[in-house]
Amino acid sequence: MRINKYIASCGVASRRKAEELILNKKVKVNGRIIEELSFQVDEKRDIVEVDGERISLDEKEVYILLNKPEGYITTVKDQFDRPNVIDLLSGVSERVYPVGRLDYETSGLLLLTNDGDLTFKLTHPKHEIDKTYIAMVKGELTSDEIQNFKSGLYIEDYKTAPAKLRVLYYDKNKDISKLEIKIHEGKNRQVRKMCKAINHPVLRLKRVAMGKITLNDCKVGEYRHLTEAEVNYLKSI
Ligand code: URA
Repeated sequence: MRINKYIASCGVASRRKAEELILNKKVKVNGRIIEELSFQVDEKRDIVEVDGERISLDEKEVYILLNKPEGYITTVKDQFDRPNVIDLLSGVSERVYPVGRLDYETSGLLLLTNDGDLTFKLTHPKHEIDKTYIAMVKGELTSDEIQNFKSGLYIEDYKTAPAKLRVLYYDKNKDISKLEIKIHEGKNRQVRKMCKAINHPVLRLKRVAMGKITLNDCKVGEYRHLTEAEVNYLKSI
């Protein structure tokens, strides 16, 4: 690949700016300053430095928010060959991975990135970010059940941390309740297990926010790139 294209592909500078960097002798390949604008980089072997910093093709970090539909898996592959969220990212050439997971049947906000540091940070139990869910559950909750849910309860042998719960409404005809739930942990199927523990199984579940990041008007099955402010916010958590 031509050197200026390589530098641009690494997300370091535009192709024009990359040429300026070369002419200003700021670019080295395998320790040697490059002066020819037509220099060809071997992407697999060459070590390229700009201003003394090593750059590489996978340096360009992308941050994507997908409104996941129900019926998609977020793990790499499964034995049933079910649709994968990655199938919904046409136009994204970088290899991105989900930040945490959403169940096959859960819809809503899913972040995907190739920034491993951020993924590690956001999913680390020490500073897991608040996640907001809208759940349709069976039945009407009593105040004891609500209190139980909020103060933390046992799912299997694990005691959940205090959570937030707001009943948005109870539909008497259908005997279902719509809840807003906020948790900061990320145990497998945690919201479903917590609702089941108070005898109100989840009928439908959607994640609508992670911290201050919301779906906005991103439609089901569509994705958008996070804004710079959103990325900075996530990095600052
Ligand atoms: N809790 C669940 O039960 N399922 C999800 O997909 C996310 C949180």
